[in-house]
Amino acid sequence: MKASVTKGLGQGFVLEEVELADPIGREVRVEVKASGLCHSDLSIATFLGAEFPAVLGHEVAGIVTEVGPDASEVKVGDHVVASLIQFCGLCVNCLSGRTHLCTRPEFTLRTPDQAPRITWNGQPVAQGMGVGGFAQEVLLHENQLAVIPDEMPWAPAALIGCGVLTGAGAVLNSAGVQYGETVVVIGAGGVGMNAISGARLAGAGQIIVTDIEDGKLERAKAFGATHVINSREGDPVEAVRAITDGGADHVFDFVGVRPVTAQGFQMLGKGGGLYLIGAAAVDAGLEVSTLVALSASQKVQGVYMGSSNLKKDIPFYASMYLQGRMNLDDLVSKEIGLSGIDEGYDLLKDGTTARVVVTGL
Ligand SMILES: NC(=O)c1ccc[n+]([C@@H]2O[C@H](COP(=O)([O-])OP(=O)(O)OC[C@H]3O[C@@H](n4cnc5c(N)ncnc54)[C@H](O)[C@@H]3O)[C@@H](O)[C@H]2O)c1
Ligand SMILES: [Zn+2]
Ligand SMILES: [Zn+2]
Repeated sequence: MKASVTKGLGQGFVLEEVELADPIGREVRVEVKASGLCHSDLSIATFLGAEFPAVLGHEVAGIVTEVGPDASEVKVGDHVVASLIQFCGLCVNCLSGRTHLCTRPEFTLRTPDQAPRITWNGQPVAQGMGVGGFAQEVLLHENQLAVIPDEMPWAPAALIGCGVLTGAGAVLNSAGVQYGETVVVIGAGGVGMNAISGARLAGAGQIIVTDIEDGKLERAKAFGATHVINSREGDPVEAVRAITDGGADHVFDFVGVRPVTAQGFQMLGKGGGLYLIGAAAVDAGLEVSTLVALSASQKVQGVYMGSSNLKKDIPFYASMYLQGRMNLDDLVSKEIGLSGIDEGYDLLKDGTTARVVVTGL
């Protein structure tokens, strides 16, 4: 099959012919129908690094074509969404429903003594986040898959696997936003836009969105932002404190550069929480004054994959989409071929692009 291979840091995404192994155990082979371009894979390919060569891509929707002898949760012909959340189902965190905190995520992978799932010219290829979605097919553990209704279209379905789980999940699961509370979304990209949808589902009172691109802010308004702020055109902290009458209940940072994260903390009101989701550089972080935080009972929380339980949350978001309660169509800005991933990531720099999705060769 064809896959887009990242051969090293800064070497982009190159279409190659690779081999995919047959399913063993609880593995499942999925024909990829749509594969979204999440910023995280660009970060891995450009500055974070990983095991290379690798097939990256982790936002996948497709059809099950083959199942291993021990797979029991999906069957051939099922429409599925894959997630990078790897969980065992048996550890203490999994048993309490917090599968995103599984202590044995490697349970879903092959062991070093087993043949690799992907090879290229006979050499092993790393499978990005246990998915390897920039390919015509993926082979992964059934724990990483959720079944969706057949009527769900492919490109919006793919977005659920990361952007929606992360963005909406940060609001609904990690922060547990309640009716009437104020929410600030910093960075209205492919992930942050779903935080706006999550805030609407939660019944948030004010949904304030900041970005540096007017095109992204216009779309944010169409998705339900009650206020938008271009942080290039003034002090976003002052603006948020004025709108919220003293500070917000929840601030979600989808950008992750030090000055922006520091501003996010300054936007908090009494009892407010800052949620760290984006990391645009390796030194992303925050310095917090204990005196400020304690006197206002404020908290800072890192958020991995929207604290999602993929088996429950993927079907939930698919259902919200099919009921017309979650807009995913307007996040699919462009559909591209597997050979055009570098250009696809370039498109994300454009102020009007939300998500780019691979839907062909
Ligand atoms: N924590 C997790 O589990 C998790 C999961 C998925 C993605 N992520 C991360 O979330 C982040 C967002 O991903 P994405 O795919 O939406 O990226 P994206 O590139 O689509 O969106 C980023 C947005 O931030 C805006 N932005 C940039 N600088 C800004 C600033 N100074 N102030 C306000 N807005 C600014 C951009 O204009 C863009 O709209 C990435 O860092 C990604 O790696 C984290
Ligand atoms: Zn992602
Ligand atoms: Zn576990």
